[in-house]
Amino acid sequence: MTQSPVRGNEALTGKGTSDKGIEGVDLRNIMRYFPSAVTEPTGALDSGELFGLTVAAFTSGSLAPPLVLICIRNESTARDLFTRAGRYCINILAKDQQKIGEIFSLAGEGGRFLNLNFYIGKGGSPIIRGCIGYIDCKMDQIIAVGDHTLFIGEAVDIGWEKKDPLLYIDKHYVQLEEHLEKNQ
Ligand SMILES: Cc1cc2nc3c(=O)[nH]c(=O)nc-3n(C[C@H](O)[C@H](O)[C@H](O)COP(=O)(O)O)c2cc1C
Repeated sequence: MTQSPVRGNEALTGKGTSDKGIEGVDLRNIMRYFPSAVTEPTGALDSGELFGLTVAAFTSGSLAPPLVLICIRNESTARDLFTRAGRYCINILAKDQQKIGEIFSLAGEGGRFLNLNFYIGKGGSPIIRGCIGYIDCKMDQIIAVGDHTLFIGEAVDIGWEKKDPLLYIDKHYVQLEEHLEKNQ
């Protein structure tokens, strides 16, 4: 017997397709159950000013050339700094780095780098120690996508370690059951 397709909100608890259309809040409601890794894109201006924020909207884009994508809210104060710097480093948090994720997502927080263990990499951007790895980028493209901006960076330097990641789902930081470190 063939099953009839699930349509709209007939079988799901959330909102399905309706005459009212999909609003931002609907998209946010489904995306909160989409698990993501936690990254800290960081950068430095020529003046020495450091900037960075917590970003879940990160993915690889192309292998040749090596391109990676991050998406940042237009209202974020860091957004214009990324544009001005033209270079940045994407740091991927390890499972024991939740505190960094929290500090880098506090609105209006000026002292994100104060107690941070980092150094300035070859590309001129901050590299956070203890992460799973980093992808140091030079800006390739900046694309407006609604109320966010998509930054496409070309990887110019990369470093990594086999470690378990920090994950984020349903507004909570979570850890895998030591998946990678158990399977060395
Ligand atoms: C786990 C997590 C993931 C986040 N992902 C993003 C993201 O992908 N893009 C974004 O613009 N903001 C994201 N945020 C929100 C920013 O980190 C937050 O708004 C931050 O305060 C912005 O800093 P700024 O205004 O100083 O630039 C995320 C926050 C958390 C806690």
